[in-house]
Amino acid sequence: MDSIGSLGLQQQEEAPSCPQEGLPCPSNSSELVQECLQQFKVTGAQLRQIQTSLLDSMEQALKGQASPAPAVQMLPTYVGSIPHGTEQGDFVVLELGATGASLRVLWVTLMGIEGHKMEPRSQEFVIPQEVMLGPGQQLFDFAARCLSEFLDALPVGNQGLQLGFSFSFPCHQTGLDKSTLISWTKGFRCSGVEGQDVVQLLRDAIQRQGTYSIDVVAVVNDTVGTMMGCEPGVGPCEVGLVVDTGTNACYMEEARHVAVLDEDRGRVCISVEWGSFSDDGALGPVLTIFDRTLDHESLNLGAQRFEKMIGGLYLGELVRLVLAHLARCGVLFGGYTSPALLRQGGILLEHVAEMEDPSAGAARVHAILQDLGLNPRASDAEFVQHICAAVCTRAAQLCAAALAAVLSRLQHNREQKTLQIAVATGGRVFERHPRFLSILQETVRLLAPECDVSFIPSVDGGGQGVAMVTAVAARLAAHRCLLEETLAPFRLTREQLAAVQAQMREAMAKGLQGEASSLRMLPTYVRATPDGSERGDFLALDLGGTNFRVLLVRVATGGVQITSQVYSIPECVAQGSGQQLFDHIVDCIVDFQQQQGLSGQSLPLGFTFSFPCRQVGLDQGILLNWTKGFNASDCEGQDVVCLLREAIGRRQAVELNVVAIVNDTVGTMMSCGYEDPHCEVGLIVGTGTNACYMEELQNVASVAGDSGHMCINMEWGAFGDDGSLSMLSTCFDASVDQASINPGKQRFEKMISGMYLGEIVRHTLLHLTSLGVLFRGQQTQGLQTRDIFKTKFLSEIESDSLALRQVRAILEDLGLSLTSDDALMVLEVCQAVSQRAAQLCGAGVAAVVEKIRENRGLEELTVSVGVDGTLYKLHPHFSSLVAATVRELAPRCVVTFLQSEDGSGKGAALVTAVACRLAQMTCV
Ligand code: G6P
Ligand code: BGC
Ligand code: BGC
Repeated sequence: MDSIGSLGLQQQEEAPSCPQEGLPCPSNSSELVQECLQQFKVTGAQLRQIQTSLLDSMEQALKGQASPAPAVQMLPTYVGSIPHGTEQGDFVVLELGATGASLRVLWVTLMGIEGHKMEPRSQEFVIPQEVMLGPGQQLFDFAARCLSEFLDALPVGNQGLQLGFSFSFPCHQTGLDKSTLISWTKGFRCSGVEGQDVVQLLRDAIQRQGTYSIDVVAVVNDTVGTMMGCEPGVGPCEVGLVVDTGTNACYMEEARHVAVLDEDRGRVCISVEWGSFSDDGALGPVLTIFDRTLDHESLNLGAQRFEKMIGGLYLGELVRLVLAHLARCGVLFGGYTSPALLRQGGILLEHVAEMEDPSAGAARVHAILQDLGLNPRASDAEFVQHICAAVCTRAAQLCAAALAAVLSRLQHNREQKTLQIAVATGGRVFERHPRFLSILQETVRLLAPECDVSFIPSVDGGGQGVAMVTAVAARLAAHRCLLEETLAPFRLTREQLAAVQAQMREAMAKGLQGEASSLRMLPTYVRATPDGSERGDFLALDLGGTNFRVLLVRVATGGVQITSQVYSIPECVAQGSGQQLFDHIVDCIVDFQQQQGLSGQSLPLGFTFSFPCRQVGLDQGILLNWTKGFNASDCEGQDVVCLLREAIGRRQAVELNVVAIVNDTVGTMMSCGYEDPHCEVGLIVGTGTNACYMEELQNVASVAGDSGHMCINMEWGAFGDDGSLSMLSTCFDASVDQASINPGKQRFEKMISGMYLGEIVRHTLLHLTSLGVLFRGQQTQGLQTRDIFKTKFLSEIESDSLALRQVRAILEDLGLSLTSDDALMVLEVCQAVSQRAAQLCGAGVAAVVEKIRENRGLEELTVSVGVDGTLYKLHPHFSSLVAATVRELAPRCVVTFLQSEDGSGKGAALVTAVACRLAQMTCV
């Protein structure tokens, strides 16, 4: 827009005979002026109605009401807290849209609480009209050029700069640095920008410009900059009010009231975008014929009706329309007009403000009118002053009604009888107009008497506030980098996974041959899966998973029937003496027998014992070492069947016939094999992890015989105990290993299974906290607590159906106090850790099925894998990730995963049943 100085004295024109359409010209000039002034009068009742109606619209928009569309937008800004004043550093701020046709670039240095305040350096650039109305790219290129020009004058060299973008138009923000323009306002209408992310458009333009390395870190509405820049120390400033070219306000709303946000705690800054408020019921009665004409001639017909009664871009225009009307009616300027008076934008806010200023005096009004090419008579100055005052008073009162709506909402939210609050004000209408603020204050007092408001003028037009938001955004971006860096070692490439598969294959071959290998490849003496002819009643024990169970398994013609009872194994027993442990087991069996009326019977018993055992027959298993937190003394190196028999002996009352000892992987494979003959692999991913599969007997060096198959318990949990996984192991894995009761052992298991994943997550979170990325850098008791993250929590946290606030609730139940940013990061850590686990597990399965395929010389293998374990079953994504990895790494195998429903106790009973069937056949 032109400045005052550029308007030269214009030639006068006689007013055309047609006055402002719809308004008759009464003969008496004073009467006519009074009539115009009257139109701009707004009653207290009308203001209250606007206040109430705006309040209703705010509520509807917050609730996400779609139809009818609320009259205001209530846009979340991703600013969650008012500044603490601790922010520091140098920031570049680019302001577009606040002050009409100009663009401002600032260099702001934030000094934190202690430092001295430094005045920002700034430069203003006039945006040519054709740029405001041209293609969007031209506008953003113009902005990038202004940036470069500004920075050229500063000693910035080629350092990386962080920029805050103050973009004052209605935008849908989806992050601190993502914001889609909804619609242009205030005289801008560049093509191809509405519906686009303006941050990206600016980034692209900066890149095209190519002179400086500038990162656009945050995008901010001018109201938010105004609020955030409010000097700390004057109490909470939770409202930002701008009356510049346009008008708007932002305020801190309770997050739980904002339907579009997945958040139930804390506050979030909402940009009301009240400029678009257009409730016909409330606004209709106060709209004048001049407002209608103004709207008609504007770029955005029908839009921003409220803004067009308040914003600085429009005040001069309204005055111009009234003066032109009165001139045409012959009431003013002797019935003459001037080109400036007839040209849109001919009278500016500055003219209005100055003419209205009582200290200016009539002579000044005359001078301004003459500058506008008019020839005022003595009485005209006074009339013009009244008209300017009427237009501006109405603007201030309407603005007050809107602000009162925001204040009443805040007071209601805070449940305070009297709300003490500071409102940061910004914009040229406040700066230039002599009485705008006082009328606003007075009207707010009337409309919101329960609010004690202090108005604080913004510092340097909100630039400081934009820099503060930028500082916060930059900190969050830095945190994200640290998070990514921390999680990078968990993210395995296809090559890394293929290498794991290859190493596993090699270790399998060596283990089978009896050569040094971290895979023990233990023969199980299970040679066949059930054929369906097995019959009888069997007892089974199931020890080594989350639960210890005793089962009665009835194998009959109609299928298998199971009755079972879960018993607990207290940690003191699991880690006490072997004798204690086995006595406890026998006690449980006795109890079970009594409950089932089986006392005195000696049923054949299958013992699922889910620890590494070297078997020399079906009913002999020497425990090699404990895993998964068990550590009962005097058991390693012993035959567990003997230990059980000895315990039975000590408990003279019972007689038991232990026929088979079975690993849980084998039990699972047998149990699934009863239903599906293709099931030749057993997989457990629970407290621990392991796999078994049917190998060609000829490949098993430690067992005599060349034909047929034998099930091999791989004990893959120990894979990598020779150091072969060290390339993949993170420092968090090392910490978990060191803190375990078996350091250096079960390294693969410790990267995969439920007993350890939570601990890996916890150590990662501790690290991120020490970097200040999480929990504001505060180490809490909860996070220091070992084993606080059970597998169950990982599965719950990663569930797709869980909102972020529910994730937060789970973590809070664990004694962690966290923000939703924290919750999101915790979720990402869990995802990275469990994804790696699933992929490693998949690489293992791929090695196994490929070996079976090659053993059999098949082009393609169809095979089923029986699976059990709480992690596999409960985790929302684990199973699909395992399957995807197997598909990727073993494309020639068609693998079906069957989830075992009855636990491996059933399989142990079936192994026992097969053994009994074979024994009977031998007797025959
Ligand atoms: C099955 C078996 C258990 C086995 C478990 C693994 O249900 O019956 O003996 O150890 O799966 O899962 P968990 O998650 O309990 O360790
Ligand atoms: C825009 C708002 C802005 C206000 C004040 C309005 O036209 O829509 O986003 O805050 O002007 O500059
Ligand atoms: C044990 C295996 C068992 C696996 C799953 C591991 O710790 O060593 O024998 O199969 O856990 O329960």
